[in-house]
Amino acid sequence: MKTAVKTKNSNVKVIIRATSEEMSKEAARIFADRIRKKPNIVLGLATGGTPVKMYKELIRMHKEEGLDFSKVITYNLDEYLGISSDHDQSYRYFMNDNLFNHINIKKENTHVLNGKAKDAAKECKAYEDAIKKAGGIDIQLLGIGGNGHIAFNEPGSPKASRTRVVDLTEKTIQDNARFFASASDVPRQALTTGNGTIMEAKEILLIADKASKADAIAKSLEGPITEKVPASLLREHKNVTFVIDKDAASNLKGDYSG
Ligand code: PGA
Repeated sequence: MKTAVKTKNSNVKVIIRATSEEMSKEAARIFADRIRKKPNIVLGLATGGTPVKMYKELIRMHKEEGLDFSKVITYNLDEYLGISSDHDQSYRYFMNDNLFNHINIKKENTHVLNGKAKDAAKECKAYEDAIKKAGGIDIQLLGIGGNGHIAFNEPGSPKASRTRVVDLTEKTIQDNARFFASASDVPRQALTTGNGTIMEAKEILLIADKASKADAIAKSLEGPITEKVPASLLREHKNVTFVIDKDAASNLKGDYSG
């Protein structure tokens, strides 16, 4: 399958792969390339179902090809509010379980917002400051919600939003219920980096698979640039790549064959 270059009227580079597995390998290849070029890179990382296979591939590259994470620094996008880091649905737990425990990264170099912080506003401000102090995010990984959200920036989140406490929409609660005993167990609020925080990353890589993302991907790439579809705001970034599988690309009308 051909790899697309830049889409017309947009800065976004779109890479379409036949399967979710190939999409994941392509995304891992891009991350590994950036890590090799800058061993002390600052990575922005994401949770959810989509990056799991990409993280598996990075672990494989570490074990079999010596991909070195010893100087890598990471900041995650978001965390549920009110959930402690050892809760098995916390994003800290997810990151340890799906990536950090299997590579040679220093735990003190990995950062996830603290869902149990006594003063959530202070936690959010400190997180923003820490990212700045680290020199900013070199490459930010993003998933996309079925409603076009990025991190927990739900539709309507301001373009300039920063790290803050947000309410989750019913759609996101339902989408995430599969990870909990029931939808009523899904936290109603989260701490999240903002659209403005994300847009400051030097490079952005959005990954998506499955037909359930096709509508959000089409709106993000071909609909109006609007806060109603937070991922559409990425079209104003200078260095963004969407790596998606055929199913997630199935509603696109443009020619992305390069
Ligand atoms: P998913 O979530 O990877 O579990 O589909 C992505 C997102 O909601 O950003």
